[in-house]
Amino acid sequence: MVVPRPVRIEPSDASPFVLGSAARISVAGTGADAIARLLSRYVASEAGRELAVVDEPPAFGDIAIVIAPGEGPHDDGSDSDEGYTLEVAAEGVRIGAATPAGAFWGVQTLRQLLPAADTGDLLTVEAVRVHDHPRYAYRGAMLDVARHYFTPDEVRRFIDAIALLKVNHLHLHLTDDQGWRLQIESWPELTRIGGSTGSDGSRGGFYTQDEFREIVAYAAARHITVVPEIDMPGHTNAALASYPELNADGVAPPLYTGAQVGFSTLRTGDPTTQRFVRDVVREVAGLTPGPYLHIGGDECLSTTEADFAAFLTDAAQVIVANGKIPVGWQELGKVEGMPAGTIGQYWDFTTPRGNSAELALAFVRGGGAVILSPSNAAYLDIVYEDGDPIGLDWTGTPTTLGASYVWDPARVIPGLGEAHILGVEAPLWTETVATIDEVEDMVFPRLAAIAEIGWSPAPSDTEPVESARDLEEFAERVSRLSEHWDAAGTRYRRVPEVPWPERVGS
Ligand code: ACM
Repeated sequence: MVVPRPVRIEPSDASPFVLGSAARISVAGTGADAIARLLSRYVASEAGRELAVVDEPPAFGDIAIVIAPGEGPHDDGSDSDEGYTLEVAAEGVRIGAATPAGAFWGVQTLRQLLPAADTGDLLTVEAVRVHDHPRYAYRGAMLDVARHYFTPDEVRRFIDAIALLKVNHLHLHLTDDQGWRLQIESWPELTRIGGSTGSDGSRGGFYTQDEFREIVAYAAARHITVVPEIDMPGHTNAALASYPELNADGVAPPLYTGAQVGFSTLRTGDPTTQRFVRDVVREVAGLTPGPYLHIGGDECLSTTEADFAAFLTDAAQVIVANGKIPVGWQELGKVEGMPAGTIGQYWDFTTPRGNSAELALAFVRGGGAVILSPSNAAYLDIVYEDGDPIGLDWTGTPTTLGASYVWDPARVIPGLGEAHILGVEAPLWTETVATIDEVEDMVFPRLAAIAEIGWSPAPSDTEPVESARDLEEFAERVSRLSEHWDAAGTRYRRVPEVPWPERVGS
């Protein structure tokens, strides 16, 4: 009963494990201690039990975390960096992994296997053996902090919630027409002016560089890589409003809090703009230990094709010169001569329209790979059902839990095979999403579907994806998961496909 479904989870004949009052977490191997402390905190907050962490071999009834070469799920042919093994029996629980990331994901599985709330009963886990590793290296969630600003604490709450689903990339959409959210020391007005507003007149706000570093470190401790996005050359009104010299006529436009797209653009070839791009990319790259810097490039409806190509080729080269791999929305596929290895993020439908498949394949021809975020399945800001007060409906059909679950990355774009897919990502745009509670309502349970698509083995390709993915079985597991969301205080939408457990008092 785990989401994402593990590669192998087998009941064993052993007696169940009971988390006794004397249970400890025994650690061995570099990195095990930090993960044990996180596990200890999870158990304390969700099950009301304090577990000591000890650097000695496990005794009967302990939980052991062992990180060492050969401890991963190797016997099924995988040497995935993020794989783990988990054994549960009366003698104890043992999580084995070759890497700290693998052990951390093993801990997430154990969290889900433990009963969520301490009702005073014994905390019992049936004996099982789990061998598990991800299908894709990149499993992402995106939070648009530009349209509505979310505080560092709120972003950390989001990080905690996505970690339970083994999501390992947090894409932060940091800049847009409605707000600039990251302090850039060499261009301070970006946040002083451009960070002062949000969609619909909502609060402004921004992250100082120290706050951003703390968010990045908090995510890294949970084996989540932050992917910062500076959206260029469109979606830049907040920057243009902050600095008159970025505008062709030298006049800053007013700040913008509406919901239109495509009206703003930076100037290609202008020396001030070039300096701006270099300064911003250098500072953002310096704050980013992860490999990726997202450059946006979407919906540049006010940029000529020639300027678009020249602007993004230059900006991507600056990103490479700062040691990062450029990532961009699928529109970058139009541009010849992007740096080798540039990653594309596909956001057309699960059945490509127009030239979107061609745009995605261009990244592969350029030696890169593709992240799939089909907007009719993976965009978490789309309404769950017609008439929802929060959410957009431009995709034409509401995104039910089934719509987000019943598709497969390897069957979206003809010619885009498994080896060219870096992974999947579920973006949450926040034009209509104003609070962190609303964020969670939109994200859960649909992120569970995208996380499972990114982690769990591909469904049988001898049958249509509609029958190969078992929505009912998935919904049963989501129902179990909701007990953990309740325990963790994570909000979720009670979609009709899921047989939710009865709530006490509701
Ligand atoms: C996008 O939805 N504009 C990438």
